[in-house]
Amino acid sequence: MNVICVDKDKEKIDKLNCGIIPIYEQNLEALIKKNRQNKRLEFTTDISYAIKQSKVIFIAVGTPAMEDGKADLNNVLEVAKTIGKYMNGYKVIVNKSTVPIGTAKLVKKVIKEILDNKGVSHKFDMVSNPEFLREGSAVYDFTNPDRIVLGVDSKKATRIMKEVYRVLYLSETPFVITNIETAEMIKYASNAFLAMKITYINQIANLCEKVGADVCHVAKAMGMDQRIGSKFLNPGPGYGGSCFPKDTNALFRISEEKKEPVTLIKETIKANEHQKHKMAKRIKREIGNLNGKTIGVLGLTFKPKTDDMRESPAITILNKLSKYDVKFKVYDPQGHKESAMRLQNILDKIKYCENEYDAVTDVDAIVILTEWNEFRTMDLQKIKKIMKGNYFFDFRNIYDRNIVEKLGFKYYCVGR
Ligand code: UGA
Repeated sequence: MNVICVDKDKEKIDKLNCGIIPIYEQNLEALIKKNRQNKRLEFTTDISYAIKQSKVIFIAVGTPAMEDGKADLNNVLEVAKTIGKYMNGYKVIVNKSTVPIGTAKLVKKVIKEILDNKGVSHKFDMVSNPEFLREGSAVYDFTNPDRIVLGVDSKKATRIMKEVYRVLYLSETPFVITNIETAEMIKYASNAFLAMKITYINQIANLCEKVGADVCHVAKAMGMDQRIGSKFLNPGPGYGGSCFPKDTNALFRISEEKKEPVTLIKETIKANEHQKHKMAKRIKREIGNLNGKTIGVLGLTFKPKTDDMRESPAITILNKLSKYDVKFKVYDPQGHKESAMRLQNILDKIKYCENEYDAVTDVDAIVILTEWNEFRTMDLQKIKKIMKGNYFFDFRNIYDRNIVEKLGFKYYCVGR
């Protein structure tokens, strides 16, 4: 199978053609290099060429949130029009972008209108094939999926899509083949559920703190119940990223419009925002007077193994703390470049550091916001010596309270 990737961003395509990958993911560079060398993968800005050459066209453009929380479909519809313009025969048009229920129908209508205006009658089928890939481990998730969801309304398209995913089909990956609206709903419902699961354990964690319980043991025991499952029960400073915040908002808006409000999602959105603020308040409450203090921040990205800071709890927490006369020494293995843009209003308070030890030298407090591997195995004795103060905020629960406290730190985590 040959793959042609198209983007209208010439700079991005030029970089990819020079082997420079615009996002960070371990091993992605080597994978792209290998497939380009084997002539299975190419990058172009020439959309007419890509459409004409392809039998299956995946629409995988962004659907950012608009001000009212709804997904912005402009990119999707623009691509639909272009497909209609250059279509030269039967195509399967697959929607990969996360879109409101009913979008495939809309795309079909837009393409049909363009074809009618041109007076041509090429046949095409629409498919909804949502992705469940996590940023940072997208290649692994793509090759080891829990399931493949195909929303289809034609036998021919089903056959072609099975061919596209032949390797996974042969390895007995479960396929859910359903109608298009159901496939579109599965994506939103899955993301919203995961966001809700995280929020639930965050709220239970907050309660654990009040009643003297340990949320890690609670989550572990809960997760052993196969009806609940152990994943996505790690409490923390709130979820971030480009997906959960956007998709929960979009699904809630849809549910409101249809007069069937999924109120649990609304509560999830609110509680997640609250969680981020709660972390900042916690730091203020424990340290007391923040004026003149320096805080060592470990981790900026919304999760490890990515350089993405969209909706990262770090943005809320650092902005809230910067109302005081504080300075931040920060270190993130991948996040510095993007944070210069996301934290531009408080850059005068931030000093970027070379590594985790540099970031905690002479600080009054350490705040761990992202659980990068290098933060899990730090030399705490050394840190105790190079820090000025002894506040240790572990908002990803990666350390053992007893060990940290024995070294003389004041240790705070989430729900233990
Ligand atoms: C999420 C979903 O996990 C993917 O299945 C989906 O395909 C993707 O959105 C998407 O819609 O494109 P992603 O946003 O990359 O993937 O990141 P996650 O690994 O899901 O983490 C999201 C946030 O939840 C992070 O801030 C993370 O720190 C937080 N989280 C996750 C927790 O706080 N606790 C957990 O137990 C798990």
